[in-house]
Amino acid sequence: MRGMSIENLSAGFGGFTAIRDITLTIVPNKVTAIIGPSGSGKSTLLRCLNRMHEEVRGAWMRGRVLLDGEDIDAPEVDPVQVRRRVGMVFQRPNPFPTMSIFDNVAAGLRLGHWGRVPDLEERVERSLRQAALWDEVKDKLHEPGTALSGGQQQRLCIARALAVEPEVLLMDEPASALDPIATLRIEDLMRELAQTYTIIVVTHNMQQAARVSDYTAFLMMGEDRAGVLVEYGPTEQIFTNPKDKRTEDYITGRFG
Ligand SMILES: Nc1ncnc2c1ncn2[C@@H]1O[C@H](COP(=O)(O)OP(=O)(O)OP(=O)(O)O)[C@@H](O)[C@H]1O
Ligand SMILES: [Mg+2]
Repeated sequence: MRGMSIENLSAGFGGFTAIRDITLTIVPNKVTAIIGPSGSGKSTLLRCLNRMHEEVRGAWMRGRVLLDGEDIDAPEVDPVQVRRRVGMVFQRPNPFPTMSIFDNVAAGLRLGHWGRVPDLEERVERSLRQAALWDEVKDKLHEPGTALSGGQQQRLCIARALAVEPEVLLMDEPASALDPIATLRIEDLMRELAQTYTIIVVTHNMQQAARVSDYTAFLMMGEDRAGVLVEYGPTEQIFTNPKDKRTEDYITGRFG
């Protein structure tokens, strides 16, 4: 069973439930968008998919997340390995501040390697090409990553995530800090990358969800503020013919 599936997942912080009983099968090599109002648990859900949620103080979860049929939270599973297989890109580009462009991309490859990493140059170049950044940086690989523009920094972070050859790439509002042109580049890139990777992207931008994703999941919070999955399906159906009134209200901008 290739790919990722989420079974009856609930998660929260202390006495608070942020998401409740979410069941979702992610389609491999497609882009899945997660949409929903602020506070509906989108980021929490994403963090449960690569074991980053457990890094938060007081965090708890129930239910299962399966990657290629295996429970990523099983006691024998190493969270570092999970995060290699399920990479993450955040809202604000966060290149390692003291490192060059090259070293930023190489960082994940060097981790856990004693001595020389085989084919390091080639792998860095390949990742930068996949992130559509190579041509812009090939002559300045040893300049600091933070000297790039915001959009370039975000593509650098994507290259860094791709360097370790993940199966799934999680993106939490990856373009919301970028200008419209840089945003379109990231969207084009997501479409490209979906040929090789499974992509799960959180976005507040309905046009973006409609443009880039194949499937859309809509989360909303109930009275107790816990996020639940209201509707999930092919993006075209969600945007043109939603089954749930709440989905329709949200995508047409009536709330949220
Ligand atoms: N570290 C934390 N400690 C306690 N509560 C948290 C923590 N992080 C998030 N929450 C709570 O969990 C709920 C879901 O938050 P989450 O960040 O997942 O929402 P979101 O859908 O990503 O929102 P946004 O669209 O604003 O990014 C919110 O009520 C939030 O206050
Ligand atoms: Mg969020």
